[in-house]
Amino acid sequence: MSRLPLAVANWKMHRTPDEAAVYAERFRERMAPHAADLDRRFEVAIAPPFPALDRLGRALSGSGLALAAQNVHPELEGAFTGEVSRGMLEALGCRYVLVGHSERRQLFGEDDAFVAAKVKGLVGSSVRPILCVGETLAERERDATLEVVGRQLGCVLDAAGDALGSRLVVAYEPIWAIGTGRTATPELAQDVHAGLRERLVDRLGGIGREIRILYGGSVKPANAGELLARPDIDGVLVGGASLDPDAFAAICTENA
Ligand code: PGA
Repeated sequence: MSRLPLAVANWKMHRTPDEAAVYAERFRERMAPHAADLDRRFEVAIAPPFPALDRLGRALSGSGLALAAQNVHPELEGAFTGEVSRGMLEALGCRYVLVGHSERRQLFGEDDAFVAAKVKGLVGSSVRPILCVGETLAERERDATLEVVGRQLGCVLDAAGDALGSRLVVAYEPIWAIGTGRTATPELAQDVHAGLRERLVDRLGGIGREIRILYGGSVKPANAGELLARPDIDGVLVGGASLDPDAFAAICTENA
């Protein structure tokens, strides 16, 4: 089963629309020598803050590089001040949206049920969810990693079943590795990815083998290659290092 590797830049709360346009120009320049058949070897998406989506989408147009959002509300519309619907993301041409990022879970109180509702709300949409799962340091230390990520994934599969098929993307991000410079070793990450794969195949059969599982947490050019070489690591979700277009381009092109 060959799964097209996917690299996603998560800019978090960084970059204005103007800065996004400058980034796009530099990033396209760096990707240009690899552009010809890149889309058959490696998929690339960038998730800027909402205000920069339109501008970045226009700056990436015709490049094959995809636009992603960082969040979405489960409902199609309504009185939800400060929220953004899937239809709004579709209108901007987003291909992906992050769902259940650990910062959303920890800082904004998103629980498994709310995360599952968001993923369910994307059934039938052109926008594909990237479901983020991951354990805290305390959970890892008491050997509860697979139990935690299994529960986070299970809630989503209970809510959305197989309706998303291989459009679902999972991102394993150990919370202790996010923004800390502390990356999981490739072996440790592979173990968790294999555990997630087993659960996906148990629940979804063959589709579970087609779903991509990304690794995230202090990924940079120096460690992306050894992570991506593991059999169940199908891509990377990159925060800090993705703010530098040269570094993110190096991650994408050196591993394509
Ligand atoms: P980081 O963030 O690469 O800065 O650790 C990853 C993420 O939170 O998606």
